[in-house]
Amino acid sequence: MSASLAQPRPTSATWMPDSWRSFPVKQMPTYPDQAALKAVEDRLHVYPPLVFAGEVRRLRAQLAQAAKGQAFVLQGGACAESFGEFKADVVRDTFRVLLQMAVVLTFGAKVPVVKLGRMAGQFAKPRSSDTETKGDVTLPSYRGDIINGPDFTAEARIPDPVRMETGYFQSAGIQNLLRAFSRGGYANLHEVHRWNLGFVERSPLANRYRVMAERIGETLSFMQACGIDAASAPQVDETEFYTSHEALLLPYEQALTRVDSTSGEWYDCSAHFIWIGDRTRQPDGAHVEFLRGVRNPIGIKVGPTSTVEDLEKLLEILNPTDEAGRITLISRMGADKIDKHLPPLMRAVKATGRTVTWLTDPMHGNTISTTQKVKTRSFDAIMTEVKGFFDACAAEGVHAGGVHIEMTGQNVTECVGGAHCLTESDLADRYETFCDPRLNAEQSLELAFLMAEELTGKR
Ligand code: PEP
Ligand code: CO
Repeated sequence: MSASLAQPRPTSATWMPDSWRSFPVKQMPTYPDQAALKAVEDRLHVYPPLVFAGEVRRLRAQLAQAAKGQAFVLQGGACAESFGEFKADVVRDTFRVLLQMAVVLTFGAKVPVVKLGRMAGQFAKPRSSDTETKGDVTLPSYRGDIINGPDFTAEARIPDPVRMETGYFQSAGIQNLLRAFSRGGYANLHEVHRWNLGFVERSPLANRYRVMAERIGETLSFMQACGIDAASAPQVDETEFYTSHEALLLPYEQALTRVDSTSGEWYDCSAHFIWIGDRTRQPDGAHVEFLRGVRNPIGIKVGPTSTVEDLEKLLEILNPTDEAGRITLISRMGADKIDKHLPPLMRAVKATGRTVTWLTDPMHGNTISTTQKVKTRSFDAIMTEVKGFFDACAAEGVHAGGVHIEMTGQNVTECVGGAHCLTESDLADRYETFCDPRLNAEQSLELAFLMAEELTGKR
């Protein structure tokens, strides 16, 4: 799968699930055993889809609402899921924190919250370097469990196509659990509120958060008194939860791309929502070519090196008919860069007259290295970027569509700061990520309360 020279972009009539293969491709592993790769692709091609086109269309409609300020998107989960964490507790805890955040954000934003997990397929990672060096040994970089292994040995780092099949089955297992949690009573609003009360009481900032928690509690009691309960309204007991990941490993995405029998259109059935990363968003590249032809809603990461020209090209290529809900732009600038870089891009997109949903990813522009060379992010920088995003939206007359974060329901110590004041010296306690540092459960909830305060003030 070596890169080829740029070619003229074929018309949409010439798009096929494999047409990306004749475009220059970045971040793609080179599989040493091409026959083994083909065998796995052939098997994946006939396995059942992980999501259905009807669900994907529903999500697209909800994202279109977010573009108009009539919904707010909460996208969150691990930087990278791992094969070692294929455990019900890990899935449940992340799902639970996302539900807890969603209740608080619903209250702040006064609109439905669209819940989108970076879950059930977020396995492939773009890397800034193709190799990693320790002492005098240099090996290929770890690219996520769906490609190779994290151990620093030559053997682990060889891309193994069978990992795609393992990734598929793990995604199926997690998707099944998420569907069960969403529909089986676990998402009951009163329960979720009780968990939030527990969080508030444990927080050093309890006094600050208690006011909002009490107001949410009163609202729920009022609804119940009016007869709005699980028996009369399924929304009390059930929720909709969608899955998403970066569409990085194109042989895998292609193998899961199917024609929907209802509409005759192509859908990538590996997840409801897929996005293009900051490193693979070249308008003439293979990732853009692949995403052009599938009908899923797609995200595009927008970083400090994004240009107005490229953004305009991407919107034209990926959404020529300007369908609302199709494109979500995920800004990931960095707390110190957002004020300078985001407003001109928002202004330019607005000037095209095209509909997009803007989210903030306050994580990827705020990764720093400690004196011990450990990757971390500071809670304050994350919050500063979120506020910068809300300010940019207000200044440019754009709806703040939502937030995209790397988090976990586990009590890890990977990001510094927050009400419990985690410091650099605490990081060693429970630093478990295989990739980027994630907010832990308490830090995630805290972010939701602070964002809800901001949203309440703005709406
Ligand atoms: C990510 O979301 O994990 C990621 C790598 O982000 P970005 O492409 O914005 O760097
Ligand atoms: Co990441």
